[in-house]
Amino acid sequence: TISKLLAPEISLEGKKILVTAGPTHENIDPVRFIGNYSTGKMGFAIAEAFLQAGAEVHLVTGPVALPDIEHVHMVRVNSAVEMLDACTQLFPEMDAAVMSAAVADYRPAEVATEKIKKKTEELHIHLVKNPDILATLGSLKNKEQVLVGFALETENELENAKEKLNRKNLDLIVLNSMRDAGAGFGHDTNKITLIDEKEARELPLKSKKDVAKDILFTIAGLLKIKNN
Ligand code: C5P
Repeated sequence: TISKLLAPEISLEGKKILVTAGPTHENIDPVRFIGNYSTGKMGFAIAEAFLQAGAEVHLVTGPVALPDIEHVHMVRVNSAVEMLDACTQLFPEMDAAVMSAAVADYRPAEVATEKIKKKTEELHIHLVKNPDILATLGSLKNKEQVLVGFALETENELENAKEKLNRKNLDLIVLNSMRDAGAGFGHDTNKITLIDEKEARELPLKSKKDVAKDILFTIAGLLKIKNN
């Protein structure tokens, strides 16, 4: 395609990249869970882009309807705790990590061993906080590694994103717009602002494929700075 011909060639050969994608499912009992509407499209597009650029890609994904990507190391998980385990195991070997999963903030404190019966008028499920995978990797990060998080804010977008960048020890935040039609969950397009230490770059609405490329170029730049 023309866009492929025009895009500057970039090689990430020899680089290892971890990507998270999709929702997590937090079990309530053997047949029920708490989840969200993330489709995994953005994370899979990012994995695909890095693969095209020659990187070794490890994709840790929650439950999604998308098929495995050939030549990508696929790790399919269910819950946030399982995703954390997979990510902390892989991260020390990685040059960069892009966390695009919509991880559930809370999980049931206990998982019932039998299907919960509808005996009472009200049912209370006690939830406990899930580990923050991104922040955990931020605390493990070394000088050469590039760590990228996503943010979806409804107010004080830039300010909150910047605060998150510092608090979680990130190199880049991909801010998803809530205000624009055609962006976010389930759509094939997305509108993002890329935020690093120095600047915030607001990009136009694009296909998730092209958004993935913008993210890749930015990460390639950050890797170069850190590893020179
Ligand atoms: O703090 P907040 O949930 O807004 O941060 C969003 C970013 O953190 C996303 O990159 C998401 O993948 C990541 N995250 C995570 N583990 C969590 C919650 C969020 O990795 N438990």
